Amino acid sequence: MSRIEPPNPSLRHVHRAMPHDSAFKHVQGAADYIDDIREPEGTLHVAIGGAPVARGRIVRLDLAKVRAFPGVHAVITAHDVPGKNDISPARADEPAFAAERVMFHGQPIFAVIATTRDVARRAATLAVIDIAREPPNVTVEQGLASGETVLPDYAFVGGDADAVIARAPHRLQGVFHIGGQEHFYLEGQVAFAVPGEDRDMLVYSSTQHPSEVQHVVARVLGVADSYVTCEVRRMGGGFGGKETQATQWAVIAALAAHATGRPCKLRLDRDDDMTMTGKRHDFRVDWSAGFDAAGRIKAVNLELAARCGCSADLSAGVVDRAMFHSDNAYFLPAFRILSRRVKTNTVSNTAFRGFGGPQGVLAIERVIDAIARQLGLDPLDVRKANFYRSGGDVTPYGQTVEDHEVIHRLIAQLERTSDYRRRRNAIETFNASSPILKRGIALTPVKFGISFTLAVLNQAGALVHVYQDGSVHLNHGGTEMGQGLFQKVAQIAAEEFGIGLERVRITATSTDKVPNTSPTAASAGTDLNGMAVQIACREIKARMAKFAATSWNVPEEIVEFRDDQVFIGNESVSFGELARKAYGARIHLSAAGFYKTPKLHWDRAKGKGRPFLYYAHGAACSEVIVDVTTGEMKVERVDILHDVGRSLNPAIDIGQIEGGFVQGMGWLTTEELVYGEDGRLLTHAPSTYKIPVASDVPDDFRVALFDNENHEPTIYRSKAVGEPPLMLATSVFAAIADAIHSVNPGKPVLLDAPATPEAILKAVGDFDAAAALANGHGLPGHGIPGSGPT
Ligand code: MTE
Ligand code: MOS
Repeated sequence: MSRIEPPNPSLRHVHRAMPHDSAFKHVQGAADYIDDIREPEGTLHVAIGGAPVARGRIVRLDLAKVRAFPGVHAVITAHDVPGKNDISPARADEPAFAAERVMFHGQPIFAVIATTRDVARRAATLAVIDIAREPPNVTVEQGLASGETVLPDYAFVGGDADAVIARAPHRLQGVFHIGGQEHFYLEGQVAFAVPGEDRDMLVYSSTQHPSEVQHVVARVLGVADSYVTCEVRRMGGGFGGKETQATQWAVIAALAAHATGRPCKLRLDRDDDMTMTGKRHDFRVDWSAGFDAAGRIKAVNLELAARCGCSADLSAGVVDRAMFHSDNAYFLPAFRILSRRVKTNTVSNTAFRGFGGPQGVLAIERVIDAIARQLGLDPLDVRKANFYRSGGDVTPYGQTVEDHEVIHRLIAQLERTSDYRRRRNAIETFNASSPILKRGIALTPVKFGISFTLAVLNQAGALVHVYQDGSVHLNHGGTEMGQGLFQKVAQIAAEEFGIGLERVRITATSTDKVPNTSPTAASAGTDLNGMAVQIACREIKARMAKFAATSWNVPEEIVEFRDDQVFIGNESVSFGELARKAYGARIHLSAAGFYKTPKLHWDRAKGKGRPFLYYAHGAACSEVIVDVTTGEMKVERVDILHDVGRSLNPAIDIGQIEGGFVQGMGWLTTEELVYGEDGRLLTHAPSTYKIPVASDVPDDFRVALFDNENHEPTIYRSKAVGEPPLMLATSVFAAIADAIHSVNPGKPVLLDAPATPEAILKAVGDFDAAAALANGHGLPGHGIPGSGPT
C-alpha cells in the first residue's frame, strides 16, 4: 500500500492517514444504528404485507384475521394515508401502498402494527389477497416488446454513425447482457418514527437523503415540511440503495406512528429487503462499431436498454449516467448512444455505486475488447489508441476533457509497475502448455465524471458552532454510511481552526440543523459538504481574528490559528480562551456555510454542456485463472493506480478503492439476480445470492494513489473517491474474457456479466477436455491452486 506524504507540512490534519472516526466503535459494536436506539415505553413494531403476484388488479383485500391476531394494534393500507399516497422522488408514479393495481411481486399492500416485530410478521401472513392476475413483463426483452417505458428514450448523436460504420475499414456488431446487483448493505432498511405534539413527527431513518425523507413523510401525512424532522447518525452501508429507497419505510413507520400515536419501528427482514427494494439496473446492450486497422474507433452505435422496473425512481439520472460513461476514456469521433428505460413488473431499480456509469463503462470496454480480438491486437494497445487526446478531447455530450493527459500518464505508470507486458508473455507461455487451467490478464482505465448531472443537487450546507470552551459542534447535510465522510469533514474543520481533532464533535445529520440538502451520493459528499464546512469555519474564524486584532491592537492578517493556539503578534492564547473572550465581547460564534459547485451547465434537450466539474481517473490490471472445464475462477493478482487528487485521508481513500473494487468484482463475477417467469425474485437471500467475502479478495492486491492534484480548486485539491473504483473491476471481467479467448483464439468471446462459472462455461462453448489432454498437454489440473476449501 502506498501512503502519500503531506504536500504541505504546515497542514496538520488534512492529507493524513487517520482511522475512521467510528472505527473502534464499529468493531466493538458500540456504534449506534437505528435498531440500537433505546425504545421508548409503548413502542410498536411494523411488518409489511406484500403482493403475492407481480401484476394484476386487487379484487379483494380481507385483513380481518390480521386485525384479530393477539398483539396487533392496527393494520393500515392505502386508505389510511391522510395526505398523498405517493413516495416517488419526482414523478408521482409509486405509492406507499398499492391501492388498486400491483406492479411487482412483493409490493407493499398493507402494514401491521403490533407489540413485537414477531407478532406483526406472523399476523401479516393471515391476509387474504385476491388479485386478478395479468401476465407480467419480467425480462428486458419482454419489456422492450411491450413498448412500455418509465421515461422517454433519449440519445446523444454526433455525425452519422451508421454511415461512418458502413464505410469503415473494419466493422463489428454484437449484443450482450449486463446483470444487476443487490446492495446488500449490512444494516438493512430501517426507520423509527416518534410522534410529537401537534402533528410533529421525528423520523430516524437509515437514509442517504434525509431531506427527501422529510419532504415525502410530510407529503404522505399531509402536513407542512416544518412538522417533520429526519435524523441520521450513520448507516450500516447505503451504496445508493438508500438514496430514494429508504423513504418508503420511513413513510410507513410515520404512518404507523400517526395511526397509533405511538413510536413505531420498521426494520425489514433481509428477504423482504431483497424482494421489496430496487437494485442496480441490468442492461441489454446492442452495439456496432467501425474502426481502422490500428483499432481506432471511427464510430459506434450503442443501444442501452435498461430494466427500470415498475416506476421511474432514479432511472432518469442512472441511465443518463450510463450514457455519459459509455465513452469511458475514449474519444468517439461519431456516435449514436441511445437509451431505453424499459418498464417491467419488477421492483423499481435504483442508484447503485456508479449510478449507471459502470454499465456504460463495461459496454464500451466490451466493444474495445471485441475490436482487439478481431484485429489480433493486445487490448491494451487498442485502449491506448483510443484515449482522449489533443484534437480528440470532446465527449459525446460536449464537455472537453481538459486533463486528458492524466490517463496517458496513469496508464503508462501502471503498465510499468504491474509489469503488464512481461506477464502477458508469461501467460501466453503458461496457456500454451495448460489445457484446462487458463490464465488471463487485462489492464483497463476508468474516467468518471464528478458532480450530480441534475445541477440543482450540487449545493450543500453546514452548521458550525464554537462553544466557550473552544470545542466545536460540526454539522452538515452529508450522511455517513461508512465511507468516511464525517472523518474527512472533521479533519477539514480541525485544519481551519488549527485545533486538535478531538475538539471537533461530529454530530448526526438532521433536517432541523441543515435544511434542503441533497442526497449523499454521486461521490460528491466531501466535495460539497467539506466546502460548506470550510466556508462556515472561515466565517467564524474571521470574526474571532477581527476581535483578537482589535483587542490586542495588531493587524488582523497576523492573527494565526495553529496548534490549539491563536497567535496574536508576540502573544498567544488558547483557542478556548479566545472563544471565551469573544463570547464576552458578544461575538457571534456560529455560522451556516453554503457552497454550490461552479462552472456547471447542462442542456439535456440539446445533449450538450458541462455536467461535470472534473473527472476522477484510475486503472487496474487484473490477472485471473480459469478452469475451462468447471468455470471456476480465481483472481490471482490486482494492481490498482487511482487518482484521488491530493488525498484528504489516504487510509480512507485506499479503503474506498479496495472496497469499491471488490464490490465491483462481486457484481461482475458472482452476484446474480434471477427472476422467475412469474416475476418473483428467486435469489432473495444470501443462500442464493453470492456477495464477495474476505477470501475472494485477491491474495496479491496492490493499491496505490496516483500523485496528482485536482486541477480544479476543490477542497484541498482532493477528488471524489466513493464510486469510481468500482469500475476498476472491469479489468477482472476483461481478464476472464482474455483467459477464455486463449481456448479459441479465432473466435469472439461472447461473455455476459456476471461471469459466473455457468457464464464462463457457456462462453468457453464446446470444449473437449479429453482431446485437449490427449494432445500431449500434461496432466489434468487439480483445480485452481489455493481455491479449495480450507
Ligand atoms: N462506502 C461505504 N463504506 N459504504 C457505502 O454505503 N456508498 C458508496 C460510496 N462508498 C458507500 C461507500 C456510494 S454509492 C457513494 S455515492 C459514496 O460512497 C457516497 O459518499 P461520498 O459522496 O461521501 O463519497
Ligand atoms: Mo451513490 S450510487 O451515488 O449513492
